[in-house]
Amino acid sequence: MKILVATEKPFAPVAVNGIKAELDNAGHELVLLEKYTEKQQLLDAVANADALIVRSDKITPEVLDAAKELKIVVRAGAGYDNIDTAYAKEKGIVVENTPGQNSNAVAELVFGLLVYAVRNFYNGKAGTELKGKKLGILAYGNVGRNVARIAKGFGMDIYAYDAFCPKEVIEQSGVHAVDNQEELFSTCDVVSLHIPATNETKKSINKELVSKMKKGGILVNTARKEVINEEELVALLQERTDLKFVTDIKPDLDAEFAEKAEGRYFSTPKKMGAQTAEANINAGIAAAKQINAYFAEGCTKFQVNK
Ligand code: 3PG
Repeated sequence: MKILVATEKPFAPVAVNGIKAELDNAGHELVLLEKYTEKQQLLDAVANADALIVRSDKITPEVLDAAKELKIVVRAGAGYDNIDTAYAKEKGIVVENTPGQNSNAVAELVFGLLVYAVRNFYNGKAGTELKGKKLGILAYGNVGRNVARIAKGFGMDIYAYDAFCPKEVIEQSGVHAVDNQEELFSTCDVVSLHIPATNETKKSINKELVSKMKKGGILVNTARKEVINEEELVALLQERTDLKFVTDIKPDLDAEFAEKAEGRYFSTPKKMGAQTAEANINAGIAAAKQINAYFAEGCTKFQVNK
């Protein structure tokens, strides 16, 4: 089988070698399309692929229609909002993700962003420490749990809210469970977003919610830009000059944030959360193994479009 790895933002070379070794072992052929700049390159490359491994690459109906031989797409990562899963289902194409494989990398970056923020973006002026501060984790999934683990090392007081995770499970891990996201925002000095981008969550991080934060609050986003109501957040940051916003995904209103919240805003130029050799190896090799298991045994354990 031809397995196309199409990554506009490439994996570390060591991860590509690992993916190749897995696929070779199963008798499959790896085809690599990295750093492509035009949609047409992807459309051409998928034409004869039996399986596809992607990251945040956009797998639209147009791409799926061009992929005449395609049986399975694996998103090497957690969020699969970049793939038209319903259209893939209509076409009988299995879509899978590799949950948990890159979550430590994302969680570590949360603290990279936070230390940068509390130390005033390294401008030489006295900042603050994370120790003793209240951290709110919005959604207690794989990334949220890793954030909690690391936050314990920083000596933070940890709170979490997750609409789908029972409070007892959160409490058992030594984290305070709150009743709703409003309570999380009003309780915590720092709120870290780990919700997926769904119809329910898009633009849900709005002015009303963030304005509940205490003086000097920090919002950190390593999830998806779509969950934030950017117009409202820019407006709030203008009014509340005590708040900071740090993000691992450049908002559409990046220039406005940079101007209106000057000195209180930072965005990575490209999504960096999962961009470590370890995360690339974990997610890339998991994707290759899942494809091997699909072709060998019809295994669809990680299918997200059943
Ligand atoms: C994910 O959903 O797994 C992360 O956002 C990582 O995305 P990336 O593979 O584009 O870095």
